[in-house]
Amino acid sequence: MLVELGRDEECLRWGDASPTGAPTQARSWTAVAAERWSERLPYSPRQWVVEVLREGVWRAAGTVEYRPDGHGAAEVGYAVHPAFRDNRVAVRALDLALEHAFTQDDVDTARWRAEVGNWASRRVAWRLGFSAPLTVRGLLPGHGQERRPRDGWVASLRHDEARTPAYPWLVVPTLEAGGVVLRPWRHTDAGRIVEACQDPVSQRYLPALPRPYGIGEAMAYVDRVRDSAARGTELAWCVTETGADVCVGSVALFGLGTQPGQAEVGYLAHPQVRGRGLLTVAVQSACRYALTSLTAGGLGLDRLLLRAAESNAPSRKVALAVGMTQTGRDRRAERLGDGTVEDMVRFDLLAGEITPL
Ligand SMILES: CC(C)(COP(=O)(O)OP(=O)(O)OC[C@H]1O[C@@H](n2cnc3c(N)ncnc32)[C@H](O)[C@@H]1OP(=O)(O)O)[C@@H](O)C(=O)NCCC(=O)NCCS
Repeated sequence: MLVELGRDEECLRWGDASPTGAPTQARSWTAVAAERWSERLPYSPRQWVVEVLREGVWRAAGTVEYRPDGHGAAEVGYAVHPAFRDNRVAVRALDLALEHAFTQDDVDTARWRAEVGNWASRRVAWRLGFSAPLTVRGLLPGHGQERRPRDGWVASLRHDEARTPAYPWLVVPTLEAGGVVLRPWRHTDAGRIVEACQDPVSQRYLPALPRPYGIGEAMAYVDRVRDSAARGTELAWCVTETGADVCVGSVALFGLGTQPGQAEVGYLAHPQVRGRGLLTVAVQSACRYALTSLTAGGLGLDRLLLRAAESNAPSRKVALAVGMTQTGRDRRAERLGDGTVEDMVRFDLLAGEITPL
């Protein structure tokens, strides 16, 4: 098992705790692990082989470890053989290792680090209550020949915190209604995102958009919204027409978790489709999903907020078309992309004011 793990593509790619690609290395890994257990120095790694009961036989399925620093913190590591993945083996193994660290080893804080993009590992840490990860550039050493350090995620868990998720991990659902589909973003949408975001009207009314807006910015956007959904703060959809999987716009619910039960809505139409009513249908779908109860398959929010610049007539029209109520204005609240300062008109929509899913 250890040899196969040491040769596994995922382990090699993410470069964690995997001992060994050759039998001799595997043997020395087990010998060193055993020696460290017998020494039990305050800072020596605590390493286990994980066994799983399958068809009545205990089978070696992976490794789990923590590395105390001797001063109350310990870093965790784990690897599961491909034949045993996606069965919560890592979650169960790490839970046991954490229990040991917190109760037998006087560890106060466990730290988790992974390379940006190692979603399976992030999900394990999330399930066990680790804090929402921070991204740190160059956190991890480069692989082999690669001299450039890799960007990493880092999170922590204290001994007295519950080992259950500390925040919601949102999954972007695919919604379809009225000939319009809302689906998760993909990197292959980047070209269309660039076209939509380079457009002068978009640049005027979305002053936070980077300028110039190129493929790099679009790829970063797709990564960012995946990250925001996984930390429970934003749901962002790519809008397409039924039967044609080409991006025609975007709808997002952001600020989730800031005020319980509330979120803000944002949207953008690709310049080619403006004036056809597609975004009205898309925003309606997103609002319906947001304001439908959890038990009926929605997000269970109570209220949505929308803010549009005074001169942005099409956006204000979408808000009214989906049934929002104009509630007021924030005077001279936004400097637009062209430098002019305008009032922002506020709208809201409450649960019960839209037909649920
Ligand atoms: C990370 C690793 C240990 C997970 O092992 P595992 O036994 O499959 O983990 P679990 O089944 O306990 O949990 C994995 C979760 O990630 C999810 N997952 C897997 N791939 C995913 C992806 N690409 N995106 C999002 N979630 C993903 C699984 O569905 C599962 O979610 P669930 O809890 O809702 O079921 C395993 O993939 C591995 O050995 N990777 C290589 C070594 C490594 O990366 N170690 C960690 C370094 S920090």
